[in-house]
Amino acid sequence: MRHFIDLHEWSSKDLWRILQLAVHLKAEWRSGGNRPVLHGKTLAMIFQKPSLRTRVSFDVAMQHLGGYALMLGPDEIGLGKRESVADVARVLAGYTQIIAARVFAHQHVCELAQYARVPVINMLSDNSHPCQAMADVLTVYEHFGQLKGLKIAFIGDGNNVAASLLEAAAHFGMHFTIATPRGYELPAHVWERVKGLAAASGATYQAFVDPHEAARGAHVVYTDTWVSMGQEKEAAERVATMRPYQVNQGLLASADAQAVVLHCLPAHRGDEITDEVADGPQSLIFPQAENRLHAQKAILVDLMTP
Ligand code: CP
Ligand code: NVA
Repeated sequence: MRHFIDLHEWSSKDLWRILQLAVHLKAEWRSGGNRPVLHGKTLAMIFQKPSLRTRVSFDVAMQHLGGYALMLGPDEIGLGKRESVADVARVLAGYTQIIAARVFAHQHVCELAQYARVPVINMLSDNSHPCQAMADVLTVYEHFGQLKGLKIAFIGDGNNVAASLLEAAAHFGMHFTIATPRGYELPAHVWERVKGLAAASGATYQAFVDPHEAARGAHVVYTDTWVSMGQEKEAAERVATMRPYQVNQGLLASADAQAVVLHCLPAHRGDEITDEVADGPQSLIFPQAENRLHAQKAILVDLMTP
């Protein structure tokens, strides 16, 4: 059984196939609609955290492909509280053909995969956001017509989105830099697990404290919230510490003149990104949000096609 939990568990070849499929499914959708290749299939979506993009794009993706998506919110099934994660996995696998989960503890999505007889997709955990990273590389690929050799700079918190973006960069041969304040770096094991992938693809990676150093010459400047879901109690301290990491016109001046700006959203305008940048000519944040739909269609089709 194949699961979509973390990108480092996949081969670069398989992720290229998914990326090409996303390009194909997007073109197919735009030229009149997708073939109903998931007719009769049901996706169970478990959410322990809020969502706009992920929840809607997975639901609509299943509709476009002829299938059906079932939404299970935080208060409905009590994952790991009302019932063990293992039992939820075993029961849902009897009703549905694929399960997707947005969780706090990464271990919960791994346990779902361990016990479900159907594929499991990670729709974001405290550790990673692989579906987002696939939409991100799709957006960069469409814009530049290539991935290999491009430099992508992540500015702010070394969080779940940054971790998956590093993995994607390592697979697709991109040069990844990140700037975080001390104490907010990506964990050591995340760097460790991309070593082999980067060596094979020609990707490089480097961590900085100074955001301008990370952004220097970048083709893509990426940011995300400074306060991820579940970190609300640390909000004041995080916002104060990360203030110098705002993606604004001043920071963009350090990047390549043709650089584009990405943000997974939701954005906290005035904190990690200014309105001027988010709504400016270099911003691709809304095409990026749309690409969640196309990238996830490809993930769904790939996982559900033997
Ligand atoms: N980017 C993203 O995952 O958005 P949601 O939290 O709204 O799903
Ligand atoms: N890092 C953010 C991403 C939201 C899509 C969070 O985990 O809340």
